[in-house]
Amino acid sequence: MAIQHGKGLDVGTCNLVAAEQNDKGEIELRPKRNVFIDVPIDAYTKNMLTRLNVPYVVQGKKMYVLGDHAFELANVLNKNTRRPMKDGLISPKEQDALPVMKLLIGSILGQPRVPNEVCFYSVPGDPVDSDLSVAYHRDLFDAVLKSLGYKPSHILEGHAVTFAELEEEDFTGIGVSCGGGMFNICVAYKSMPALSFSTSRSGDWVDNNVANVLGIKPAKAALIKEKGVDLMKPKTREEDAIAIYYRNLIKYNLSSICERFRAAENMPSFTEPVSMVFTGGTSMAGNFIELVRAVFKELDFPIPVKECRMAKDPFNATAKGALVAAQLETSSQTA
Ligand SMILES: Nc1ncnc2c1ncn2[C@@H]1O[C@H](COP(=O)(O)OP(=O)(O)OP(=O)(O)O)[C@@H](O)[C@H]1O
Ligand SMILES: [Mg+2]
Repeated sequence: MAIQHGKGLDVGTCNLVAAEQNDKGEIELRPKRNVFIDVPIDAYTKNMLTRLNVPYVVQGKKMYVLGDHAFELANVLNKNTRRPMKDGLISPKEQDALPVMKLLIGSILGQPRVPNEVCFYSVPGDPVDSDLSVAYHRDLFDAVLKSLGYKPSHILEGHAVTFAELEEEDFTGIGVSCGGGMFNICVAYKSMPALSFSTSRSGDWVDNNVANVLGIKPAKAALIKEKGVDLMKPKTREEDAIAIYYRNLIKYNLSSICERFRAAENMPSFTEPVSMVFTGGTSMAGNFIELVRAVFKELDFPIPVKECRMAKDPFNATAKGALVAAQLETSSQTA
């Protein structure tokens, strides 16, 4: 089978995922945590890392441990990991963000298989509740991908979700990615994005609020949350707090869709009810979709919705949708 060129890349606040099709026609996915730590450049540290079997990279006067290894090493050293991104965008507070992102992305994307292979990467929709600039972020990532030998293009994260999950419905419906830093929402009509935006309330927001009311660190709150909480039947005080903020989070985001949709001009009129599909790490909590359905019932939603459902592959939908976009672009170039 001929290889279909083009690659997809989900650039997320917490996780990066690269997607490509191999020569057997299968989709290969390569995830990596979007974290790093810096370690001293000295013989002692290098020996320790070699002993622990932890790979490191030296760049200029700095030495970094990246991705999942950074996460594990941080636990051993009792240090905090650093994040190159915050709230869906490159972090303004992290001086090392850009060189680190280039190393992380290069390690999962690999080399382009043809010169200037097309790579579609996900970007957030314009945030409704902050004035962060997506344009600056996009320019930076264009430059990173070019320097790795790719021809970059971007796709809105919510739009990528509709590409990955709504094929059987003629790419018409609502894609919602519930990530670490943001909710990304896209209403698509026959594959075109009719309305897309993001909010800066998602998993991190739950962690920070739960940490606040319980007097614990956000990382600890995240740990309890990720261990598996039944949002409809919380069992402990911690789980109670998580379920309360989850309900609040879902209400806030679904209400934002209602408001934005009512205010938008030139919206397509949906004659048939559409599906609303949920993806992303934050949607992986126990009974998340049940809670969504309960909150949805309380709202006067402006679009006819036939079902709220989980994505088939919630963790990888954005990367897979970006891959679909890259392959479409590549085949239109060679057609
Ligand atoms: N089993 C789980 N239950 C609940 N939350 C989870 C679970 N696993 C991961 N998460 C949360 O999912 C979030 C990360 O999700 P994801 O990888 O989709 O985000 P991202 O794409 O990196 O971020 P963004 O799209 O906001 O930039 C984190 O807040 C994490 O705590
Ligand atoms: Mg994401």
